[in-house]
Amino acid sequence: MAPQQDLRSHAFVDDRFRIEGTARLVGEVHVGGAKNSVLKLMAASLLAVGKTNIRNVPEIADVEIMSELLQRLGCVVVRDGSVLTIDVPATPAHRADYDLVRKMRASINVLGPLVARIGRAEVALPGGDAIGSRGLDFHIKGLEALGAIAHVEHGYVIAEAPDGLSGAEISLDFPSVGATENLMTAAVLANGITTIENAAREPDLVDLGEFLIAMGAKIEGLGSPIITITGVKELHPTEHTTITDRIIAGTWAFAAVMTQGDITIHGARIDHMEVMLEKLTSAGAIVTSTADGVRVKIDHRPTAIDVATLPYPGFATDLLPFIIALNSIAQGDSMVTENVFESRFMFVNELTRLGAQIHVDGHHVSIHGIKQLSGAPVEATDIRAGAGLVLAALVAEGVTTVDGAFHIDRGYPRFAEELVRLGAHVSRE
Ligand code: UD1
Repeated sequence: MAPQQDLRSHAFVDDRFRIEGTARLVGEVHVGGAKNSVLKLMAASLLAVGKTNIRNVPEIADVEIMSELLQRLGCVVVRDGSVLTIDVPATPAHRADYDLVRKMRASINVLGPLVARIGRAEVALPGGDAIGSRGLDFHIKGLEALGAIAHVEHGYVIAEAPDGLSGAEISLDFPSVGATENLMTAAVLANGITTIENAAREPDLVDLGEFLIAMGAKIEGLGSPIITITGVKELHPTEHTTITDRIIAGTWAFAAVMTQGDITIHGARIDHMEVMLEKLTSAGAIVTSTADGVRVKIDHRPTAIDVATLPYPGFATDLLPFIIALNSIAQGDSMVTENVFESRFMFVNELTRLGAQIHVDGHHVSIHGIKQLSGAPVEATDIRAGAGLVLAALVAEGVTTVDGAFHIDRGYPRFAEELVRLGAHVSRE
């Protein structure tokens, strides 16, 4: 049977990475727009009729999935290099189908804009990454507080507000990124003032807020735990440049430290990576700021470091696979704790196939660093786990294959090519 083709014309869902270790990565990389920002900007473009231009859009599979979703809602989406133009019709459709939402959880970000703009949204309950149950209760309760009637039926969240939404005071039990975004993008067109307490503070969310402000929204408190939104009657299309991807920049920083290399990361925003860079410094890295980014180098085996993930500005959960991979070849013993998701340790089993000495106990992982891993076939279970396994493979003696390359394609543009440029022996098969 012919292999099933991915949304990208040149990618196949059963592609894998083949990595020959070991390698020391040296050179320069350029980091593009943030996946977790651009997908939300794209969804929020639904809030205004007409053409919105988003610049610095990365070439990743998730952007293609969101483009397809917007097209099914009646938008015309055109890419010209790194600029995406989304032409939104006066009355978009209101249903986000399961076949797309299951591929990418960020699809649920159309929920808030659709309810606010056209008074109805039907969005399939997402699947997404295999990193815990990831409920939608905050999204649904928040929309209800804004006056929507919401329920789950046949696997879809159905939210209706035929007479529009009204401002409300909302307090989140946890600073959920997605819920803050959905509620903020709903409240911008609500009648009156909305406050979101215990709001997420991630840079991607601030980027979304600034995009909405450029569309005519009134929002205060972005980047703080309390966001205040004064609803306006309508928004207009805008132009916006996506912030750079702090998780990809972080991936390269970890790659430098794990391989005892030296990578200059152009476009990295140090102000978005402070905790992470402090941790890498504790591991022995020399971190210096450059004109447009950061240089990370180390010339000896890194030291193991304890880390607990937290909502921003804490250590990002998306970097968890990298810190576990780093500690597995570092000098010493360490403890890594996951506080954001219920379970994000599926990839640990894969890492142990490379010889890593790791013990999982609930939300904690204890790691005994060994000098070198050894290559083996492994499988990516989500975007970051996939990239983490590739980095581990770089410091594993012999050949490692990482199945499930499509996971990595969801978030990393031309990952294999970039690694090769830095001196790795990586191919795609
Ligand atoms: C986003 C990011 C993801 C990142 C995460 C945390 C995107 C596309 N994804 O995911 O890469 O790892 O933020 O920084 O931007 N929760 C509930 N009920 C809800 C909503 C969330 O219980 O209604 C829980 C989740 O199960 C999880 C925690 O809250 O345990 C955080 O989730 P959330 O911040 O919403 O993550 P996402 O927005 O899905």
